[in-house]
Amino acid sequence: MPATSSAVLWYTTRATGIVALVLLSTTMVLGILTAGRAKSRGWPAFAQAELHKRVSLLAMVFLGLHVLTAVVDTYVSVGWASIVVPFASPYRPLWTGLGTVAVDLLAAVAVSSAVRRHISARTWRGIHWLAYGSWPVAMAHSLGEGTDASRLWMDALAALCAAAVLGVLAWRVADHRRARERAARVGASTRAVVPSAPMAARPRSAPGTTRLLEKERP
Ligand code: HEM
Repeated sequence: MPATSSAVLWYTTRATGIVALVLLSTTMVLGILTAGRAKSRGWPAFAQAELHKRVSLLAMVFLGLHVLTAVVDTYVSVGWASIVVPFASPYRPLWTGLGTVAVDLLAAVAVSSAVRRHISARTWRGIHWLAYGSWPVAMAHSLGEGTDASRLWMDALAALCAAAVLGVLAWRVADHRRARERAARVGASTRAVVPSAPMAARPRSAPGTTRLLEKERP
């Protein structure tokens, strides 16, 4: 492979990295809203799910470009292995390694979604949860590795991404808790009105009572 290094490659790595981070954060927000069944008349569930899918695909495109330009650019030595093997990069091994970990986790999520029809919903959901792990790791990579991380605008953008993801996550947890409390209240009031099956099936008089009454008869 001929040595390739240019300002274009370097700027492309940086720009695509930033776009990938924003798109990944947007994917997280849309995914959490879809899973939490956020209701809106103008924005039905199927549209939410479709948007989540398309934005995630776009994130993968920018991520692919980011990784490719980072590896091809010989200005820094990242190495092809770093695309999948964490901490194999001679250039900033820790921060680049975290980027690779995020890519590996996202690859598992993407592959499981591609073969979703062939695996159980339980397995798919379990693997999809890896997205929750990939996002903070990708964020750490972006802030630790990036040339622009020391700039105010980049910090503001990262803070915005974090606020959006953590905000909808907090909403989802609170919404889940409210739904459980509601279900518990409905269950309690239903039990109070309708006697439970064992109570209804219970004999009118306890065994032995009839015999006792018969004995007392004159
Ligand atoms: C989900 C995965 C990833 C995301 C979201 C991501 C995002 C980012 C972001 C936002 C930056 C900062 C750009 C800047 O400050 O201008 C960056 C820098 C960088 N990333 Fe990634 N990245 C990911 C994975 C990877 C992987 C797997 C590699 C290597 C194979 C890699 C290589 C690099 C390099 C070399 C830089 C340094 C650019 C600089 O110093 O400005 N990234 N990345």
